[in-house]
Amino acid sequence: MLVYAPAMTMPADKNPIASLAERLGPRGFTDDPDTMAPWLIDWRGRINGRARALLSPATVDEVADIVRVAAAARIPIVPQGGNTSMVAGAVPSPDGDALLLSLRRMRAIRSLSPADNVLVAEAGCILSDVHDAAEAAARRFPLSLAAKGSATIGGLVSTNAGGTQVLRFGTMRSLVLGLEAVLPDGSVFDGLTALRKDNRGYDLRQLLCGAEGTLGVVTAASLRLVPAAARRAVAWVGLDSAQNALDLLRKLESATAESVETFEIVPADGLDLVLRHIPGTRAPLSGRYRWNLLVEATAPASAADPGESLGEALAEAIEAGLIGDATIAASETQAEDLWRLRESMSEAERIDGVAAKHDVSVAVSHMADFMASARTEVERRFAGARVLAFGHLGDGNVHFNVRAPAGADDRAWLASEGAAVTELVHDLVTAAGGSISAEHGIGQTKLAEFARLGGTARLAALRAIKSALDPHGIMNPGKLIPLAPARAAP
Ligand code: MLT
Ligand code: ZN
Repeated sequence: MLVYAPAMTMPADKNPIASLAERLGPRGFTDDPDTMAPWLIDWRGRINGRARALLSPATVDEVADIVRVAAAARIPIVPQGGNTSMVAGAVPSPDGDALLLSLRRMRAIRSLSPADNVLVAEAGCILSDVHDAAEAAARRFPLSLAAKGSATIGGLVSTNAGGTQVLRFGTMRSLVLGLEAVLPDGSVFDGLTALRKDNRGYDLRQLLCGAEGTLGVVTAASLRLVPAAARRAVAWVGLDSAQNALDLLRKLESATAESVETFEIVPADGLDLVLRHIPGTRAPLSGRYRWNLLVEATAPASAADPGESLGEALAEAIEAGLIGDATIAASETQAEDLWRLRESMSEAERIDGVAAKHDVSVAVSHMADFMASARTEVERRFAGARVLAFGHLGDGNVHFNVRAPAGADDRAWLASEGAAVTELVHDLVTAAGGSISAEHGIGQTKLAEFARLGGTARLAALRAIKSALDPHGIMNPGKLIPLAPARAAP
């Protein structure tokens, strides 16, 4: 781990934007409004920003030059990867002051060492390309999510992304062995190690994971690989109780020798949305169940077929009345079809209309209770509001979304009730000892709630770290760190 020069103060350039245009050339610089437009609106289509220019460097040296020029001129920088943030974390503010810094041209896989089980990818590398490269070397990068075809490594690191395999492999934090990043003064943190152990003090790598670009620009990451899964079994389960789902998870863990790595929940009305809006999808079970689960178990070539133990355990669960029905994919195509039902949830919900979206976590054992009691409370306070909670039940994180009453104008309802709904959900999750942001980060859209509920000590420490590393506040301003001091605890 090495931080090297220059930490010197650059004199402010007389015309920093023109210098950057010259330094980066036409492939790396544009201020054309039409070219910039798609990158100035968030994935959910709600938050618009403006920027002086869109910069697309091709090397870490170019990133460092950009940051040095911007730091000297005190120009804000907003790093951006695939722009798939759920919390508008990569969209600049509407004042148009910032430079939008796209990492998408830095998409190389620099190295892959099967002997170390490590792959080094640049920040703009798309997640599915990392999956493919690992697979070609008989390895696997065990983090996946619905946006895998556009989400980039830099964004995944910067948001400490979770996804559908956290149950077994943890979030991005547990898979990043090292980082290369440009810090806010333009110096390069060269921490791309493959080390499994490294106790040289504060862990800058972990500080940059989940920092949402507020402490620097991640330019590359060393990622931990695991052996390829030779076999997988994918099941779709129908049942009427979320608590039974959790009981099933614990049974499956022992029945399948802990090979379950995906345990995702989809409610009946969520599946309805997918079937209505996503072409080519069909219901996997003949009955309609209040809850559905997508379960995947994997095993290396040397281990027993996970399909057998999963099938037996599910049959026992049906016999015991724990679940209503289940089916196991008989082919890769069927497995992909089941996955598509879960991975299309967000897209189907987006097509259907707007919602107050929440990304909450509580202890796994409390999640069934939380989902039931929070739903009751939301429905009591907001007549007709429709709760749609889906996601990562196995790791205690659901997307507890609330839609307008049927037939209502959803945008008008969200504008009048959305903030109060969100405050209620976040109050309930805080009272349950949980988090108001399990995996999406704070970005812009959770900032006010983070200020309200983040807690004095946590927010003060975050601000202190931010001002120590980024004293001029140029890195992704208006994201993650609430400006106003936290309210004093009563
Ligand atoms: C998911 O789990 O599908 C993603 O986090 C997206 C979402 O929350 O909508
Ligand atoms: Zn999710």
